[in-house]
Amino acid sequence: HDTHHMDASARTGAEPTAGTGTPPPFTPFSVRMPVPPVLRPVSTKGDADVYVLPMRPSTAEIFPGHPAPVMTFGGTFIGPTIRARAGRTVRIHYANKLDRGATVHLHGGHVPPDSDGYPMDLIEPGRSRVFEYPNRQEGATLWYHDHTCRKEAEHVYRGLAGFYLVEGEDERDLRLPAGRYDVPIMIRDGRFDEKGHMIFEPSPMPTTLHTNGQLQPYFPVDARRYRFRVLNATLHRIVELDLGGLEMVQIASDGGLLPEPLPRTRVMLVPGERVELVVDFSQQAIGSKLVLTDVYGGAKEPVMRFDVKRRVPDPSRVPARLRPLPPLPAATTVRDIKLSMTASGEEFAINDKTFDHNRVDARIEEGTTEIWSITNTDPADTPFGPVDHTFHMHLVPFRVLDRDGKPPLPGENGLKDTVLVRPGETVRVQATFTGYKGRYLYHCHLQEHSDIGMMAQMEIV
Ligand code: C2O
Ligand code: CU
Ligand code: CU
Repeated sequence: HDTHHMDASARTGAEPTAGTGTPPPFTPFSVRMPVPPVLRPVSTKGDADVYVLPMRPSTAEIFPGHPAPVMTFGGTFIGPTIRARAGRTVRIHYANKLDRGATVHLHGGHVPPDSDGYPMDLIEPGRSRVFEYPNRQEGATLWYHDHTCRKEAEHVYRGLAGFYLVEGEDERDLRLPAGRYDVPIMIRDGRFDEKGHMIFEPSPMPTTLHTNGQLQPYFPVDARRYRFRVLNATLHRIVELDLGGLEMVQIASDGGLLPEPLPRTRVMLVPGERVELVVDFSQQAIGSKLVLTDVYGGAKEPVMRFDVKRRVPDPSRVPARLRPLPPLPAATTVRDIKLSMTASGEEFAINDKTFDHNRVDARIEEGTTEIWSITNTDPADTPFGPVDHTFHMHLVPFRVLDRDGKPPLPGENGLKDTVLVRPGETVRVQATFTGYKGRYLYHCHLQEHSDIGMMAQMEIV
């Protein structure tokens, strides 16, 4: 199920990596899944919560007992979680203590252009920058990650990513599982050498999933409801989650709560997508162990295991109504977006053009609503065949109108910012461009594709 089939190390500028042997052995479900720490503000006075977050090299034991070099926010392989409140500004001082330039994008954030992490506008080593996130948006599961031009895939792969959770006013009364029962889960993938170090070398070789930075961890749970915020932060793997047939109630997608809960037994996630799932363990026997498995394309790879430990009272619930969708104003413009690689498979483009920061690809009047009709036009005869792409838009969420004229996939009826676009498929989305003027990106979120050109920019005027 690998969608990537090229020797792109030269094209992405990845450093050659030492070691190619067989990774060290590991015992499944032997390490507890860490929950990324919540970052404490250095100040909560006045109009904003202020944070300091260094980007720095560190080590992580993805293979227990084998410390491996990684790039981090704040020293942990999954960066610390930032908890923001809708309507209250967060200001973050990012200090770059890495050996190279980097920048930070808040994926799903409605932010001014100079805080969006433009790929050419890097924070150089030894420098720091303040980004401001006004959080004038609905509560949702966002994430922050590097967006360095042509290096984003490698930087994110090596660790530069974390969760950013916006809590909506409306969420307090819903009584969804909260506190330690609200758990972010970041799924990533990697290839490893004999020392357990990460190999960054895009290739058709299969990768191994890791979850909150651990290979197939276990997570002790109480026999009650949990809210899991799941992010697919892999480079190019689609995952489809199955919990042994147990119901997972989807309550949110990329842009926050759905109008109403959606019970599911399988949940597909493409890179960049988030989903919030409420799982109720109260009917499970104490001592039972439930494996969350990736079953995409016939795979059967354990992601993690939930170990049910004890009975506790559960005051949480999942209300029948969650959050009404905002009105969808009529569109005044329709745009066609073509995602495709060239016949040689050498270049990845949007509307036949690779990314050029000097070029504006779409000029949009602030406040207007548009329909974007996105088609995967990969030619059939490339050396790699047509591959899946995704489409992600910065600044504003969109609604998925249809897929080849048919209804959107399950769970796609809420606010979205990242969607799958299969070979030959046309996905129509509708967005209203409000709030800020300036340049923002849209791109395939398979970061190896956007790194080599499948990215473009719009200017809101
Ligand atoms: Cu998560 Cu421009 O991306
Ligand atoms: Cu984004
Ligand atoms: Cu792509």
